[in-house]
This record gives sequence, structure tokens and C-alpha cells, in this order.
Amino acid sequence: MTTPVLEARDVTMRFGGLTAVRSVDFTVNEGEIVGLIGPNGAGKTTFFNCLTGLYVPTEGTVSYKGTVLPPKPHLVTKAGIARTFQNIRLFANMTVLENVLVGRHTRTKEGLWSALLRGPGFKKAEKASEERAMELLEFIGLAGKRDHLARNLPYGEQRKLEIARALASEPGLLLLDEPTAGMNPQETRATEELVFAIRDKGIAVLLIEHDMRFVFNLSDRVSVLVQGEKLVEGTPEVVQADERVIAAYLGEPFEGDPGEAEAAEVEAAEAAADATSTTSTKGDAQ
Ligand SMILES: Nc1ncnc2c1ncn2[C@@H]1O[C@H](COP(=O)(O)OP(=O)(O)O)[C@@H](O)[C@H]1O
Ligand SMILES: [Mg+2]
Repeated sequence: MTTPVLEARDVTMRFGGLTAVRSVDFTVNEGEIVGLIGPNGAGKTTFFNCLTGLYVPTEGTVSYKGTVLPPKPHLVTKAGIARTFQNIRLFANMTVLENVLVGRHTRTKEGLWSALLRGPGFKKAEKASEERAMELLEFIGLAGKRDHLARNLPYGEQRKLEIARALASEPGLLLLDEPTAGMNPQETRATEELVFAIRDKGIAVLLIEHDMRFVFNLSDRVSVLVQGEKLVEGTPEVVQADERVIAAYLGEPFEGDPGEAEAAEVEAAEAAADATSTTSTKGDAQ
């Protein structure tokens, strides 16, 4: 039996005359890693923002474990959904450990300001919180840099720290918006392992991603958003084989006989490449 963690029903988001997300139904089940892909401007981030209460959807509802979520970010976090952002959002002048502690404030009785100012109430909760934060830093491999300022971390580690901060709210569902953007291949592979490890801890994962290999390797299911609408959804195999998805990425509909036109294009490209390589081989010999 599959138990839904997240259920979006008929979610629509309009900005003035522009419909960025249109009537999207979407489910993430317990134990799943789900990928959300689609060309630039398809509405992926807008949809994430609707799920996390940053935007109030024009229509539709979002439920977490059977309860409709109020569209307020801190209430969504409190309910059990954590996220990272497409553009890194860390407290640059705070240490690695402090950034994770900030992520814990929804789970401790003490508020954000108490945590930051280290008031008397905070001190009591501090020890347990710090232990948990260190556990998370060990999990993502940043324990050795607990006292480094976030802004001094290399880019890939900043992305990891964002994930640790999100995990600090003890979520049941983690949303990652382009977690490998700007990463080198090794960092991307490490992130892949990290996402599997997070799922193995019992946290469902929904990720937006441009790196197709990454998303198809990781995901149990993939959803394709095109111009705000869900075009296809299924296993990576099903989605990869769907010609509508390929067409959406190429930016042109398949009309007439796609095979012929494509073959001509590939031949022309190969001929051009051959000509270039012949020239450069000659050049190299000189
Ligand atoms: N706050 C906003 N106000 C107006 N238009 C927006 C806003 N956010 C996104 N859009 C528009 O919605 C569409 C989808 O954008 P976005 O969700 O960022 O796409 P994706 O993440 O798939 O690249 C785009 O046309 C974008 O310009
Ligand atoms: Mg986006």
C-alpha cells in the first residue's frame, strides 16, 4: 500500500494574465523520490512555492499527510515540509553550525530570535539542539567545518549546508530546487548518494532538476511540467520513452514525419563535425 505524504489537488497559480501553473494534481508517497522536470519557465519553481506556502495558489489545495496546509511558509515547515532554494539562501556571516541551528527553531520551543540572540531559554534547549545539529553535519559531511562562516565554504558545500539546514526542521518531506546547479560531476554524484541516504532515513524527496541523468537515476517517478501543465508522469523509463517529452525539450511539436527531419538534421550536424575535425587534425599536425 502506498501512503501519500503530499497531495496537490487542482493547483492553479496565475500572475495577472499569466497562468504559470494550471490545474496540477500531484502526489508524493511515503518512501518515494519524485522528480519534477520541464523546460525553463515551465512553472516548476512556482509550483514549489505553492506547495510551501510562499505563494497562495489561485485555485486548489495542498495536503500533507491528509491535512490541508495553510499557505504560510512557517506553518508548512512546522507541518513537516522542508525545502532548499534554487538560489542559495544561507546566513552568510553565521557559522555552519549556527545555520543548522536556525533550521531547528521550528522544532524547539524557543523562537528564531531567542536562538540567534542566545537568550536564557535558548541555553537550556541549546545542548540537545546542538547535538542534533552536529549529527546532521556529520551526516552530510560538514562536521569538521562547524565553526567556518557559511560564506567561506566552497559552492558545493554551501548547497550541502542548505540541505542540512532543511533537515534540521525534522521534515517528513524534503523539496530540493535544482540541488546540483553549478556543481561539478563529483559533487553531483555525492549529492545523488546524499539524496538516497535521506530517503533511507524515511524522508520522502521531491526534486526539481535540470541534470537529466541525476533525476532519472534517483527518481522512482518523474513528472513533466510544460507551460504550467503536467504533461506526462511515470517511471523514468516511461518518461524517457515518451516522444511528447522529447518534443517539449526540443521546443517544437512533432508534426508530419519526425523521423525524417531529425535524421536529416543529425546527418547535417555530423557532416559539419567531420569537416571541423578534419581541419583541426590538419592544424594539429603542423
Ligand atoms: N512572482 C512572479 N510574478 C510574475 N510572474 C512570475 C512570477 N514567478 C514566476 N513567474 C512566471 O511564471 C512562469 C514560470 O516560472 P518558474 O516557475 O520560475 O519556471 P521554472 O522554475 O520551471 O523555470 C514564468 O513565465 C515566469 O516568468
Ligand atoms: Mg525554477
